[in-house]
Amino acid sequence: MKQPAIGADTFVLVLTGAGVSAESGIPTFRGSGGLWNDHRFEELASPEGFARDPALVWRFYSWRRSVAAGCAPNPGHAALAALEQRLGDHFLLATQNVDGLHRAAGNTRVLELHGNLFTSRCSRCDRPPFEDRALHEARAPACDRCGGLLRPHIVWFGEALDPSHFEAIEAFLERARAHPLVFLAAGTSGVVYPAAGLVDVARRFGAETWLVNADPPDNAHRFQHFVQGRSGEVLPALLAP
Ligand code: OAD
Repeated sequence: MKQPAIGADTFVLVLTGAGVSAESGIPTFRGSGGLWNDHRFEELASPEGFARDPALVWRFYSWRRSVAAGCAPNPGHAALAALEQRLGDHFLLATQNVDGLHRAAGNTRVLELHGNLFTSRCSRCDRPPFEDRALHEARAPACDRCGGLLRPHIVWFGEALDPSHFEAIEAFLERARAHPLVFLAAGTSGVVYPAAGLVDVARRFGAETWLVNADPPDNAHRFQHFVQGRSGEVLPALLAP
């Protein structure tokens, strides 16, 4: 298999999506078996949906918590953890996944662009987000500081991403100037922005761009190299030293 040239001097920015966790047993959002085929995301993953029926939203996220709690990283996650081991601070992983499997695999330089499934925050007061692995299946839980409703620490449709994540990506790309730079996206359909636009940002910084995906996604033409296949099989081969 043709591989990106990754030497000790190379910087690698990785973007992952739901496909990378599919082989661990976590459903994707789109494509066959995708969550958004059977569920209306406006009801389950938007501030308006939460205002209308917080208990329904919590049932959905409690179910997702219970699924993710029973899953383990797969060889695709392991290949990315091994790459970080090799490259140290020449490596940065931006993930749209909220399941925590990249950290479980050993990655530490991780930006969770869409939040974390096992973190909650108050929808009313400024209590900092906190770890919460509980299942709230009967009703939406209340904040023990102010009595407001707790909500999952997830970026919902219509909400802004944490600007510090984009600042960290920009700072990484700035540091990569005058070095070889590789941008690798894996397991993402390329329809949800701003993550889907990262490939263009990386190209402006001179990155060689690679995409690993089971099906050709919407933005495949924007990558220089496309490897079709399951990330748990392709990533270990693609990233083998
Ligand atoms: P999607 O579900 O939109 O896309 C997953 C992609 O992974 C599809 O293109 C599949 O073909 C591909 N795929 C499936 N199995 C794979 C495998 N084993 N190996 C490689 N590729 C595989 O997931 P995302 O692009 O991550 O946001 O979706 C983006 C965002 O939309 C999510 O973060 C979520 C969702 O609404 C929020 O919930 C905030």
